[in-house]
Parts: sequence; structure tokens; C-alpha cells
Amino acid sequence: MAATLKKANGLCLIFYYCLSLCIINLGSIAAQNADSNVKKKDEEFTCPEGLGNGNYADPQTCRRFYQCVDGYPYLNRCPSGLRFDDISKFCTFPNEARCGPIIPTPAPSTEPPIDLAVKCNPEECLLPECFCSKDGTNIPGDFTPSEIPQMILLTFDGAVNLNNYHYYKKLFKKYTNPNGCPIKGTFYVAHEYSNYQMIQELASSSHEIGTETISLQTGLQDKGYEEWVGEMIGMREILKHFANISKNEVVGMRAPFLKPGRNTQYMVLEDFGYLYDSSVGVPVSPIPVWPYTLDYKIPHECKSGTCPTKSFPGIWEIPLNSHYVETFEGGHCPYLDQCVLHNHDANEVFEWLQEDFSRHYDQNKAPYMMPFHTNWFSIKALEDGLHKFVNWTQTLPDVWFVTATQALTWITDPKPLTELNKFEAWDCKKKNGNIPKTPCLSPNKCALSFKPDNQNFTDTRYLETCVDCPSKYPWIGDAEGSGIVGRDNYVPDNGSK
Ligand SMILES: *[C@@H]1O[C@H](CO)[C@@H](O)[C@H](O)[C@H]1NC(C)=O
Ligand SMILES: *[C@@H]1O[C@H](CO)[C@@H](O)[C@H](O)[C@H]1NC(C)=O
Ligand SMILES: *[C@@H]1O[C@H](CO)[C@@H](O)[C@H](O)[C@H]1NC(C)=O
Repeated sequence: MAATLKKANGLCLIFYYCLSLCIINLGSIAAQNADSNVKKKDEEFTCPEGLGNGNYADPQTCRRFYQCVDGYPYLNRCPSGLRFDDISKFCTFPNEARCGPIIPTPAPSTEPPIDLAVKCNPEECLLPECFCSKDGTNIPGDFTPSEIPQMILLTFDGAVNLNNYHYYKKLFKKYTNPNGCPIKGTFYVAHEYSNYQMIQELASSSHEIGTETISLQTGLQDKGYEEWVGEMIGMREILKHFANISKNEVVGMRAPFLKPGRNTQYMVLEDFGYLYDSSVGVPVSPIPVWPYTLDYKIPHECKSGTCPTKSFPGIWEIPLNSHYVETFEGGHCPYLDQCVLHNHDANEVFEWLQEDFSRHYDQNKAPYMMPFHTNWFSIKALEDGLHKFVNWTQTLPDVWFVTATQALTWITDPKPLTELNKFEAWDCKKKNGNIPKTPCLSPNKCALSFKPDNQNFTDTRYLETCVDCPSKYPWIGDAEGSGIVGRDNYVPDNGSK
């Protein structure tokens, strides 16, 4: 992996070098952008056999290229205005780029062989750094189910804004954990249409904020390192700038559409100091899976087909177990709003959730994650059913609603139920340090011009924040909205381990 990493990093240095030149040259780039000739439908690209890992021209356009890693082609886009040079194998100015594909001269591969993760070895995998079990269903710390808490993780994906914020607030203000503290949830935020005053408010009330991506583009799972950095680390930069959330607080991510980016996404997680990912779906199984570290092979079938295959020591995966009720229609789903419960009343929804929950609660107490999109709340019976469910769990003395990071804190150092009222990570004393302060009451309402990559016209997007309005709508490569395309340069803070 180190060799691939080095290559990727070398590549970005070249990008950044080119970019600093481009900024001077913005006028001419704008002109070149107008004659876009990117073809709509990509044909399948196959990595040339026997040539090893490396960068290859996209036969459709030299605005893009493929990075082949272990025979899998990851699509990369050259920074705005640049073209892929198929001789030197990097992006450069259009007048210098020798557009490919140019018939390659076979060269011996210098890459190491594929180093796939191996099966869990419980003797060597020890907490707090490592956790795995044969089929993923074992409880950490050798406790019996009756000794441990049932954690529930409420997670919300996508933009936070006027359409959903009040539903979230309503849910969180009503209910408490056994220690008397308000229940907490986790938000995997996407940028477009988000309101950063609201996000700051959620963060300042100790909910966890993680990153989805800036654009929610589809097909990200097939893209390269740079694209993931731009989307995911860019999202973290936007949160820092517009919601005052320190990047140390943003330690988790969820891939859009639960399509993890194979090894590439996890390389970015590792390089940029993330603690966990929560994008991997578990197929329908009778006993739910606990979170695990990626030191070893994933202990279940990979539902999306795009899970990491290499070992990422110490990086946690909080998988999404399937939700389903055997005797009930509605199918099975990772996101609760994807199960077909739309024709049911609040009581039926409540009963369905109870039944689904019992597969966790009555067995190994694997954390019960309840992943939502905002559309769950647009149907009254679903919202009411959820409230009935949460209200019902208030009668269970061992149920705790915690953030994803709070759950991992327990898992890395598991404690019996009897010690939880004194468990510092789950109390509600104000932690000094990184949590942003309560946001301003009247945020700036910024109307900003925005030109999406695939559109030839300029649009307006609104953004609310307690800091000054930027000059352009923040986007990939320009998290602060400076108006300088491709201005950002994100440097890995963890280095390689
Ligand atoms: C948050 O705001 C405070 C006060 O304006 C500032 O000192 C601090 O640097 C900001 N933190 C981040 C992470 O932006
Ligand atoms: C909440 O639960 C309590 C006790 O279990 C019950 O009396 C009450 O009616 C419930 N409230 C709602 C809104 O379901
Ligand atoms: C911009 O897009 C519209 C519709 O997609 C098209 O009709 C128009 O010709 C385009 N204009 C230019 C300058 O490409």
C-alpha cells in the first residue's frame, strides 16, 4: 500500500504545482472550458493486463484518466482546465498535453503484489486497537448480553436545513438516557443546501458531525484518491470554516449511497486522521454484526461490492445491519426510510421497529443503528411511529442513545451496565475544548453564485452561516468560497502509519 500511496501523493504535488500556475491563467481556462467535448456515456475501461499499476489515458477524453490499482480502474478528473499527458502520465496545460491513448511500451511492473487482508485472528487482534470476530457477531470484552448496554445510533444523512432541522430538534429535546442526559445522534452532512448555523447548533449541543461529501455525486466509488480528498476533506474544511467545527471533532464519514470507495476511500480516511467509516452494508442476517476494525478481512459478505479489500489497521467500520421483519412486508433496508412502511399507521410502524430492534436487543446487543434520510420525517405516520418507539425505549433501563464516536469509546473499553452512570464519555458535563460555542441568533444569509461542473449556466445557492459571506458558493477545491477554482491544497495530517 505504501508504494501506491507515494504515487498518489506524488501525483497531487504535480497537480498543485500546475494549479498555482493556472490561477494566473484563469482567463484562458474559462475560454477552453466552453468547448467541452466530454462524452456523456463512458464505456467500460479495462486496465491493461501485465502493465501493472499506474495512470492510463481515458480513451474518451483527455480531461480524465484512469488510475489502475490491482487491476481496478479508478476514474480521475484533471483539475479544471488541465489535460492528461499520456507520455509523462500527469495533468498539464492543454497545449503541452499529449492526448492519449498512446500505444504503451510494456514495462515490468514495479508494484508489490496485491496484499489482501486476511481472516480475523482473535489471538492477535486485541482491544483497544483491534476488534474482530469470526462472523462479526461477538460482543467486545467477553461480556454476556445482560451485562452490557443496548446502544442505539440515530444517524441522519445529507444536508441539514429548514426542511428537516425542526424534526431533528423535536426528536432530541424530548428524550433522555439512563444517566439523565439528553439523547444524542450523528449527522453525516452533505454540503449542497446545508445551513451552517443549524449545523453549528447541532454540534454545540454535542451531536456528532461527520462528513458525507460536498456534491453527493454518483459514481464516487469508482473515482480516485484526489476526488475523495476533494469531496470528503473538502466537506470537513467547509464545516470548519462555516460552522466553526474543529477538524479534530470530525472523525467519521459515510459514503454517498452507501457505496464505499474500495481501498481508495480508506486510504484517505487513514491519511487524514479519521477514526471510522460507516458505509458498509451487511446483508440480511439472523444475528447482527458489531462494529469491527479493518485490520482483517470484513467478516460478512460485502453488499455493495465496493468494500475495502486491504488491511487498514485501527480504522473502525460501523456497518449498517439490514433492517427487516420476517413476518411483515416491507422488505429489508439499510436506511429505515427505504423499507416500505409508507402505508402503515404510526402504531404499525412502532411495532415494526420494536420487532426489528429485538433482533439486536434479545440477542447480542450489537448497536442498533437507525439510519435516516430526511424523507422519513416527511411522512407523519413514520415520524410518529419513531417517536412511539423512542418513547417506549425510555422504559428499558439498559438502552442508551449515543453518537457513533461515543459507541466506539465504549467498544474500545467496554464497561458493564453498572458503571455507565459514571462513564465520562457518555455524561453531559460541558467538555471544554473543541466543541463550537452556541451559534449566533441571526446568521448571515448569503446568496452566492454557483456554476456546477456539468452545467453551462450560473445558478444561485443560499448559505446561512455565523461568519462573513464568502464571495462564491463553496465547492470542491474551494472550501472557503474564495472564487479561485482549485485553490485548496489538503495535506494529510496523519502521514502514513
Ligand atoms: C471558532 O470561533 C472562535 C471564535 O470566533 C475562533 O477563535 C476559533 O478559531 C473558531 N474555531 C474554528 C475551528 O474555526
Ligand atoms: C410514552 O410512554 C409512556 C410510558 O411508557 C406512556 O404513558 C405515554 O403515553 C407514551 N407517550 C407517547 C406519546 O406515546
Ligand atoms: C447550455 O445548455 C442548454 C441546455 O442544456 C443549451 O440549450 C445551450 O445551447 C447551451 N449553451 C451553450 C453556450 O453551450
